[in-house]
Amino acid sequence: MATIYPADHLTLAGQPYSMQEYYANCHANGSLTLIVLPISRHTQNILHSPSHSASISVSSDPPAAARARVALMGSVTLLPDDSPESEALKDCYLAQHPDAVEWIPGDDEGAHVAYWGIFDPHTVYFVGGFGDEHYIGYVPLNLYQTASPFDETDVGSRFLKQEASF
Ligand SMILES: *[C@@H]1O[C@H](CO)[C@@H](O)[C@H](O)[C@H]1NC(C)=O
Repeated sequence: MATIYPADHLTLAGQPYSMQEYYANCHANGSLTLIVLPISRHTQNILHSPSHSASISVSSDPPAAARARVALMGSVTLLPDDSPESEALKDCYLAQHPDAVEWIPGDDEGAHVAYWGIFDPHTVYFVGGFGDEHYIGYVPLNLYQTASPFDETDVGSRFLKQEASF
């Protein structure tokens, strides 16, 4: 994840900050689920940003120059404590990050105060690998949101088929 230090920060105003952050994939439209911890630097940057903006990058595993990665730029919305979605998010999140059981929102015994958040991308920038062989550029948001899971080894051919239609 990358965020920007707030304008009133004493020494780092406007500077980008990036650090690994957990997210879970729990929504069909590709919006990502976050556990928002008030003690985290990212959370402070997001909450001080007028549009609650952040960017999250997702890379192939293992990452490599020849393999696909994507930067999602968007904003974070906190869910209310009593959100009806909480139980489902907890199950989904823990299935992807079992160790997060220590900081699940709503747990009075938890290690930290925590809230559920949703990261909704507004812009998607995709680097498929090398520009002579792979698509590099923006991906229309509706294409991202309506995509279904696929075998990443097939990303090139699928993307080219899609590209032909926009
Ligand atoms: C994505 O789906 C979630 C869950 O249905 C919803 O809360 C969220 O608003 C959607 N985001 C966008 C950008 O449509």
